[in-house]
Amino acid sequence: MQPPPQGRDGLEIRTVYGPDDLAPDLQERLGDPGSFPYTRGVHPTMYASRPWTMRQYAGFASAAESNRRYRDLLAAGTTGLSVAFDLPTQMGYDSDAPEALGEVGKVGVAVDSLADMRVLFGGIPLDEVSTSMTINAPAAVLLLLYQLVAEEQGADPAALRGTIQNDVLKEYIARGTYIFPPAPSLRLVSDTFAYCAAELPQWNTISISGYHMAEAGATAAQELAFTLADGIEYVECALAAGLEVDAFAPRLSFFFVARSTLLSEVAKFRAARRIWARIMRDRFGAKDPRSMKLRFHTQTAGVELTAQQPEVNLARVTVQAVAAVLGGTQSLHTNAYDEAIALPTDRSARLALRTQQVIAAETDLCDTVDPFAGSYAVEALTDEVEAESLRLIDAVFAHGSAVAAIEEGFQKSEIERSAYATAKRIDAGEQTVVGVNKYLLNGDDAPYKPLKVDPAIEVAQVERLAAHRAGRDAAVIASSLAAVREAAAGTANVLYPLKTALAAGATVGEVCTALAAEWGRYTPNEHW
Ligand code: 3HC
Repeated sequence: MQPPPQGRDGLEIRTVYGPDDLAPDLQERLGDPGSFPYTRGVHPTMYASRPWTMRQYAGFASAAESNRRYRDLLAAGTTGLSVAFDLPTQMGYDSDAPEALGEVGKVGVAVDSLADMRVLFGGIPLDEVSTSMTINAPAAVLLLLYQLVAEEQGADPAALRGTIQNDVLKEYIARGTYIFPPAPSLRLVSDTFAYCAAELPQWNTISISGYHMAEAGATAAQELAFTLADGIEYVECALAAGLEVDAFAPRLSFFFVARSTLLSEVAKFRAARRIWARIMRDRFGAKDPRSMKLRFHTQTAGVELTAQQPEVNLARVTVQAVAAVLGGTQSLHTNAYDEAIALPTDRSARLALRTQQVIAAETDLCDTVDPFAGSYAVEALTDEVEAESLRLIDAVFAHGSAVAAIEEGFQKSEIERSAYATAKRIDAGEQTVVGVNKYLLNGDDAPYKPLKVDPAIEVAQVERLAAHRAGRDAAVIASSLAAVREAAAGTANVLYPLKTALAAGATVGEVCTALAAEWGRYTPNEHW
């Protein structure tokens, strides 16, 4: 493949744009807001009717500690929850597994069983809040635990709103928390689509994510292309499993980064909607307009934050958040200014939320839809990102499928080349990073006190788990895990026996081990 363009975000932005830069038939490429191809947004009135969801990603240490942070965020005016799980949970290991040693509660909350999930959402009415859970390989397991807690609270499952990330393909490309090989992972995703269509109709079954690819160095067009290619793969797998496209496609959702390159990012978000609408209508024959609407969450770019002069990150995050809003995001996480150093403190987490509240309530950005429509520069950039993304999607499928391209290391090596080009530009001083390669402080920066997770948390969590295990009926656990294995070995939807096992007290690690006994554990190709 050709090397990516050398400009920031992979685009060469010209000094001046004019009418000649607008390709013919602009109105056809735009449509009205809320109409095909949704370039201008998925709703006719967008934020004038309802601002985006302010959804701050949070979770660390124990379920009780994280529950306190969620209540604080809700009290401070956050409008959706977003759960961060620790690495052992994300990898399907219990807190007492040897693989979990030293990692319990570090980058997110440790959840081993229904007992932890109950504490995590204690006092939060789950039929009133929408909750995103960043969980991938064991997404079905954590979703079922959530449903079980909601049912205990008396909630109607049909009323539950939220999202599981559930995007295993990007784990092989950029994030790394996979458990099973691609084929059974995709089968579990399709089972989850079917389960949610029947049992949890308002749940967004997947958050097809480009964010982590962007953090690994992808350009705007690479982020878009590789994410949409994964989206195509999920749709094809679900169709192959016998699902009707309009039965599951309305609940697919996406997740992108917002970087400080505001114009390119707005172009990216607009191009994303247009490409996906056409793919769903023309490639998959979707009829329901909801299947064609690309709805997405945005997180501001963690990789652009600096540990040097961390307060400067507030300025970066504000610009990035404005890019997401001008791009029509449905949901937004603004990073805390200290996130390049440690987990956010209470104060910095609140400040990050306040940044969104200022944008929503004090600016005029909610008053009109897609204000960049018709801009010579942004329309030209939208066309450019679209064309480059389509070229890259074709390059992915030239390998046969997105999975085949992943297994050949295609997306990963393309992203690595872009990351290298960016690093070289920064090292050479051709791309400025304030406080890092320009505008450095002469004296010492004021000392910053990072939040640290207490290592005692691991011991306490392992004790909790032992107490939980001791209170169970071993015969019931064994037979319910056997039923999970039987479903995994056959073709029946595995989520139903999973729910029974979890309700009986089986742990995340036990059910994942039962699945892995049938499906194996994934090890990447050596040439990666
Ligand atoms: N007019 C009419 N209706 C409107 C409207 C408008 N202007 N605005 C909103 N609505 C409606 C919507 O249609 C929706 O109703 P529906 O579900 O019946 O269609 C309802 O109001 C809720 O609005 P949204 O769907 O717009 O907003 P949500 O917040 O509920 O959902 C989402 C947004 C993107 C679809 C969803 O998937 C989501 O919330 N995703 C969040 C993902 C997330 O937080 N991920 C965190 C990742 S962190 C990570 O990966 C960690 C690390 O590795 C970086």
